[in-house]
Amino acid sequence: MIKKIDHIGIAVQNLEVAIEAYKALGFEVEEIEEVKEQMVRVAMLPAGESRIELLEATSDESAIAKFIEKRGEGIHHIAINVESIEDAIEKAKKAGMKLIDEKPRRGAGGKLVAFVHPKSTHGVLLEFVEG
Ligand code: CO
Repeated sequence: MIKKIDHIGIAVQNLEVAIEAYKALGFEVEEIEEVKEQMVRVAMLPAGESRIELLEATSDESAIAKFIEKRGEGIHHIAINVESIEDAIEKAKKAGMKLIDEKPRRGAGGKLVAFVHPKSTHGVLLEFVEG
């Protein structure tokens, strides 16, 4: 059911500046996309079968803006690729985990995602990504 680490999400102040830094390290940008519902702009940088996801807030109301305000730039979440998002949510619920999304929603790339609260995962915001 758990397939791989899909991506690691990193909250950044300025997407273009961050992209330049990662390019200097040898990364390439796969795509840049705006996810309106989450008030973020996202750049995906492939790293083998995983990716780095750079996230820039497009509004002060965005979770990414709040994260940076509180903790500064840095690792925001780890995304796990699962076969079935419904199964993953069900399993987490059964285990008494605190979910941010009780139902899957559309994330970057139009994929179905759901977040598990860091309180239930020993301090790490966990994202399930289907497919
Ligand atoms: Co993500």
